Amino acid sequence: MKFDKKHEPETLDDVIFADADVKQTLQDYANNQRHKHLLLYGPKGTGKSVTAQIVLKERMCVIWQTGLGDAWNASSYQDKWDNFNPMLQQWNMQLSWGAHTGCSVIDEIDQFNLPMQHRLRAFIDQYEMGFVIATTNNLHLVDGPLKDRFRPLFVEYPSVQQWVPRVVSVMAAEGIPVTPIQAAGLLQGFQGSGRSLNDWMEDYVFRLQRMMAQVTTPPATAQHCAHTINGAGSK
Ligand SMILES: Nc1ncnc2c1ncn2[C@@H]1O[C@H](COP(=O)(O)OP(=O)(O)O)[C@@H](O)[C@H]1O
Ligand SMILES: [Mg+2]
Repeated sequence: MKFDKKHEPETLDDVIFADADVKQTLQDYANNQRHKHLLLYGPKGTGKSVTAQIVLKERMCVIWQTGLGDAWNASSYQDKWDNFNPMLQQWNMQLSWGAHTGCSVIDEIDQFNLPMQHRLRAFIDQYEMGFVIATTNNLHLVDGPLKDRFRPLFVEYPSVQQWVPRVVSVMAAEGIPVTPIQAAGLLQGFQGSGRSLNDWMEDYVFRLQRMMAQVTTPPATAQHCAHTINGAGSK
Protein backbone atom coordinates (compact mmCIF):
# COMPACT_ATOMS: atom_id res chain seq x y z
CA MET A 1 0.00 0.00 0.00
CA LYS A 2 1.23 3.50 -0.77
CA PHE A 3 2.71 5.28 2.25
CA ASP A 4 0.34 8.27 1.76
CA LYS A 5 -2.73 6.04 1.72
CA LYS A 6 -1.52 3.96 4.66
CA HIS A 7 -1.15 7.04 6.86
CA GLU A 8 -4.07 9.08 5.58
CA PRO A 9 -5.72 10.95 8.46
CA GLU A 10 -9.04 9.37 9.42
CA THR A 11 -10.40 11.87 11.94
CA LEU A 12 -9.99 15.61 12.45
CA ASP A 13 -7.68 14.83 15.35
CA ASP A 14 -5.29 13.14 12.92
CA VAL A 15 -5.05 16.34 10.85
CA ILE A 16 -2.66 19.03 12.06
CA PHE A 17 -4.16 22.52 11.94
CA ALA A 18 -2.05 25.63 12.33
CA ASP A 19 -5.01 27.49 13.80
CA ALA A 20 -7.13 26.15 16.68
CA ASP A 21 -10.17 28.24 15.62
CA VAL A 22 -10.10 26.59 12.19
CA LYS A 23 -10.12 23.18 13.83
CA GLN A 24 -13.01 24.18 16.12
CA THR A 25 -15.07 25.46 13.18
CA LEU A 26 -14.45 22.23 11.32
CA GLN A 27 -15.51 20.26 14.36
CA ASP A 28 -18.77 22.26 14.44
CA TYR A 29 -19.32 21.32 10.81
CA ALA A 30 -18.50 17.68 11.49
CA ASN A 31 -21.09 17.69 14.32
CA ASN A 32 -23.79 19.05 11.98
CA GLN A 33 -23.93 22.33 13.91
CA ARG A 34 -23.08 24.60 10.99
CA HIS A 35 -24.79 24.55 7.63
CA LYS A 36 -23.43 27.29 5.40
CA HIS A 37 -21.50 25.88 2.44
CA LEU A 38 -17.83 25.59 3.35
CA LEU A 39 -14.81 26.63 1.29
CA LEU A 40 -11.38 25.45 2.46
CA TYR A 41 -8.63 27.47 0.81
CA GLY A 42 -4.89 27.72 1.22
CA PRO A 43 -1.63 26.37 -0.18
CA LYS A 44 -1.29 22.83 -1.52
CA GLY A 45 -0.67 20.01 0.90
CA THR A 46 -2.24 21.59 3.98
CA GLY A 47 -4.82 18.82 4.30
CA LYS A 48 -7.83 20.55 2.72
CA SER A 49 -9.05 17.61 0.64
CA VAL A 50 -8.57 15.05 3.36
CA THR A 51 -10.31 17.37 5.86
CA ALA A 52 -13.29 17.93 3.53
CA GLN A 53 -13.70 14.16 3.22
CA ILE A 54 -13.48 13.64 6.98
CA VAL A 55 -16.10 16.35 7.68
CA LEU A 56 -18.46 14.76 5.15
CA LYS A 57 -17.90 11.31 6.65
CA GLU A 58 -18.51 12.54 10.19
CA ARG A 59 -21.67 14.40 9.14
CA MET A 60 -23.00 11.14 7.73
CA CYS A 61 -22.21 9.54 11.10
CA VAL A 62 -23.58 5.99 11.46
CA ILE A 63 -24.90 5.76 7.90
CA TRP A 64 -21.42 6.36 6.44
CA GLN A 65 -20.28 3.79 3.91
CA THR A 66 -17.95 3.82 0.92
CA GLY A 67 -19.61 5.32 -2.16
CA LEU A 68 -22.01 7.52 -0.18
CA GLY A 69 -19.88 10.64 -0.41
CA ASP A 70 -17.12 10.25 -2.99
CA ALA A 71 -15.45 13.61 -3.63
CA TRP A 72 -15.83 15.25 -7.03
CA ASN A 73 -12.83 16.85 -8.69
CA ALA A 74 -14.16 19.96 -10.46
CA SER A 75 -12.06 19.47 -13.57
CA SER A 76 -13.06 15.81 -14.10
CA TYR A 77 -16.65 16.60 -13.20
CA GLN A 78 -16.81 19.32 -15.83
CA ASP A 79 -15.29 16.99 -18.46
CA LYS A 80 -18.31 14.71 -18.01
CA TRP A 81 -21.24 16.92 -17.07
CA ASP A 82 -22.49 20.43 -17.64
CA ASN A 83 -25.14 20.33 -14.88
CA PHE A 84 -25.44 19.34 -11.23
CA ASN A 85 -27.84 16.43 -11.58
CA PRO A 86 -25.17 13.92 -10.44
CA MET A 87 -24.68 15.96 -7.29
CA LEU A 88 -28.43 16.09 -6.72
CA GLN A 89 -28.51 12.31 -7.09
CA GLN A 90 -25.75 12.01 -4.49
CA TRP A 91 -27.79 14.13 -2.06
CA ASN A 92 -30.95 12.12 -2.73
CA MET A 93 -29.08 8.89 -2.11
CA GLN A 94 -27.69 10.23 1.20
CA LEU A 95 -31.15 11.44 2.29
CA SER A 96 -32.67 8.08 1.41
CA TRP A 97 -30.09 6.47 3.71
CA GLY A 98 -31.20 8.77 6.54
CA ALA A 99 -28.79 11.74 6.34
CA HIS A 100 -30.08 15.06 7.78
CA THR A 101 -28.89 16.91 4.69
CA GLY A 102 -27.08 16.00 1.51
CA CYS A 103 -23.37 16.75 1.42
CA SER A 104 -20.85 16.80 -1.44
CA VAL A 105 -17.16 17.56 -1.62
CA ILE A 106 -15.91 19.49 -4.66
CA ASP A 107 -12.14 19.49 -4.84
CA GLU A 108 -10.38 22.32 -6.66
CA ILE A 109 -13.59 24.23 -7.26
CA ASP A 110 -11.59 26.94 -9.11
CA GLN A 111 -11.17 24.42 -11.95
CA PHE A 112 -14.82 24.91 -12.90
CA ASN A 113 -15.01 27.41 -15.73
CA LEU A 114 -17.06 30.53 -15.16
CA PRO A 115 -20.34 29.26 -16.71
CA MET A 116 -20.06 26.15 -14.53
CA GLN A 117 -19.43 28.29 -11.44
CA HIS A 118 -22.56 30.27 -12.32
CA ARG A 119 -24.54 27.04 -12.66
CA LEU A 120 -23.27 25.81 -9.30
CA ARG A 121 -24.39 29.06 -7.69
CA ALA A 122 -27.88 28.69 -9.20
CA PHE A 123 -27.96 25.04 -8.14
CA ILE A 124 -27.11 25.64 -4.50
CA ASP A 125 -29.56 28.55 -4.37
CA GLN A 126 -32.33 26.32 -5.72
CA TYR A 127 -31.76 23.19 -3.62
CA GLU A 128 -31.57 23.70 0.09
CA MET A 129 -31.49 20.05 1.06
CA GLY A 130 -27.78 19.78 0.38
CA PHE A 131 -24.53 21.33 1.37
CA VAL A 132 -21.17 21.67 -0.39
CA ILE A 133 -17.66 21.50 1.03
CA ALA A 134 -15.28 22.87 -1.57
CA THR A 135 -11.50 23.17 -1.62
CA THR A 136 -9.15 25.38 -3.62
CA ASN A 137 -5.53 26.46 -3.78
CA ASN A 138 -6.60 29.46 -5.88
CA LEU A 139 -9.24 31.46 -4.07
CA HIS A 140 -8.88 34.34 -6.54
CA LEU A 141 -10.20 32.10 -9.34
CA VAL A 142 -13.52 31.52 -7.57
CA ASP A 143 -16.26 33.83 -8.82
CA GLY A 144 -17.19 36.47 -6.21
CA PRO A 145 -20.93 35.74 -5.90
CA LEU A 146 -20.26 31.98 -5.68
CA LYS A 147 -17.61 32.58 -3.01
CA ASP A 148 -20.14 34.65 -1.10
CA ARG A 149 -22.40 31.59 -0.71
CA PHE A 150 -19.60 29.85 1.20
CA ARG A 151 -17.91 30.31 4.53
CA PRO A 152 -14.24 30.65 3.57
CA LEU A 153 -11.78 28.98 5.93
CA PHE A 154 -8.07 29.54 5.47
CA VAL A 155 -5.99 26.39 6.02
CA GLU A 156 -2.31 27.21 6.30
CA TYR A 157 0.88 25.20 6.83
CA PRO A 158 1.51 24.08 10.39
CA SER A 159 4.82 25.11 11.96
CA VAL A 160 7.59 22.56 12.42
CA GLN A 161 6.63 22.24 16.08
CA GLN A 162 3.00 21.58 15.16
CA TRP A 163 3.97 18.72 12.82
CA VAL A 164 5.63 16.83 15.71
CA PRO A 165 2.55 14.76 16.78
CA ARG A 166 2.03 13.66 13.17
CA VAL A 167 5.63 12.40 12.96
CA VAL A 168 5.31 10.64 16.33
CA SER A 169 2.07 8.85 15.35
CA VAL A 170 3.16 7.85 11.84
CA MET A 171 6.47 6.53 13.14
CA ALA A 172 4.66 4.61 15.90
CA ALA A 173 2.42 3.04 13.25
CA GLU A 174 5.59 2.02 11.41
CA GLY A 175 6.92 0.39 14.59
CA ILE A 176 9.54 3.11 15.15
CA PRO A 177 9.04 4.70 18.56
CA VAL A 178 10.08 8.36 18.47
CA THR A 179 9.59 10.80 21.34
CA PRO A 180 8.25 14.31 20.65
CA ILE A 181 11.68 15.75 21.45
CA GLN A 182 13.36 13.37 19.00
CA ALA A 183 10.72 14.16 16.37
CA ALA A 184 11.28 17.89 16.83
CA GLY A 185 15.02 17.32 16.40
CA LEU A 186 14.49 15.29 13.25
CA LEU A 187 12.17 17.92 11.82
CA GLN A 188 14.65 20.76 12.24
CA GLY A 189 14.81 22.71 9.02
CA PHE A 190 11.80 20.93 7.51
CA GLN A 191 9.71 23.24 5.39
CA GLY A 192 6.89 22.21 3.23
CA SER A 193 3.57 20.54 2.77
CA GLY A 194 1.96 17.56 4.44
CA ARG A 195 2.65 15.64 1.26
CA SER A 196 6.38 16.38 1.37
CA LEU A 197 6.33 15.46 5.06
CA ASN A 198 4.92 12.06 4.02
CA ASP A 199 7.81 11.66 1.53
CA TRP A 200 10.28 12.74 4.16
CA MET A 201 8.92 10.22 6.69
CA GLU A 202 8.88 7.42 4.12
CA ASP A 203 12.54 8.12 3.28
CA TYR A 204 13.39 8.06 6.98
CA VAL A 205 11.60 4.71 7.48
CA PHE A 206 13.46 3.21 4.49
CA ARG A 207 16.82 4.52 5.73
CA LEU A 208 16.23 3.00 9.17
CA GLN A 209 15.10 -0.32 7.69
CA ARG A 210 18.24 -0.47 5.54
CA MET A 211 20.42 0.27 8.56
CA MET A 212 18.64 -2.44 10.59
CA ALA A 213 19.11 -4.93 7.76
CA GLN A 214 22.84 -4.17 7.66
CA VAL A 215 23.14 -4.70 11.42
CA THR A 216 21.26 -8.04 11.43
CA THR A 217 22.63 -9.56 8.19
CA PRO A 218 26.21 -10.93 8.25
CA PRO A 219 28.34 -8.91 5.84
CA ALA A 220 28.39 -10.37 2.34
CA THR A 221 32.19 -10.59 2.37
CA ALA A 222 32.19 -12.73 5.55
CA GLN A 223 29.65 -15.10 3.98
CA HIS A 224 31.79 -15.26 0.89
CA CYS A 225 34.94 -16.03 2.92
CA ALA A 226 33.20 -18.81 4.86
CA HIS A 227 32.11 -20.29 1.59
CA THR A 228 35.59 -20.13 0.19
CA ILE A 229 37.16 -21.68 3.29
CA ASN A 230 34.65 -24.54 3.28
CA GLY A 231 35.23 -25.04 -0.38
CA ALA A 232 39.01 -25.11 0.14
CA GLY A 233 38.67 -27.65 2.98
CA SER A 234 36.71 -30.10 0.88
CA LYS A 235 39.34 -30.35 -1.74
N1 LIG B 1 -2.42 19.21 8.01
C1 LIG B 1 -2.17 17.92 7.77
N2 LIG B 1 -2.18 17.02 8.76
C2 LIG B 1 -1.89 15.71 8.53
N3 LIG B 1 -1.61 15.22 7.31
C3 LIG B 1 -1.59 16.08 6.27
C4 LIG B 1 -1.86 17.46 6.46
N4 LIG B 1 -1.76 18.07 5.26
C5 LIG B 1 -1.45 17.13 4.38
N5 LIG B 1 -1.34 15.93 4.97
C6 LIG B 1 -0.97 14.68 4.31
O1 LIG B 1 -0.86 14.97 2.91
C7 LIG B 1 -1.87 14.26 2.16
C8 LIG B 1 -2.42 15.19 1.10
O2 LIG B 1 -3.17 16.22 1.71
P1 LIG B 1 -4.40 16.93 0.97
O3 LIG B 1 -5.58 16.91 1.88
O4 LIG B 1 -4.60 16.31 -0.38
O5 LIG B 1 -3.84 18.40 0.80
P2 LIG B 1 -4.45 19.63 -0.02
O6 LIG B 1 -5.83 19.23 -0.47
O7 LIG B 1 -4.44 20.77 0.93
O8 LIG B 1 -3.51 19.85 -1.18
C9 LIG B 1 -2.88 13.81 3.20
O9 LIG B 1 -3.52 12.61 2.82
C10 LIG B 1 -2.02 13.60 4.43
O10 LIG B 1 -1.36 12.36 4.37
MG1 LIG C 1 -6.65 19.08 -2.47
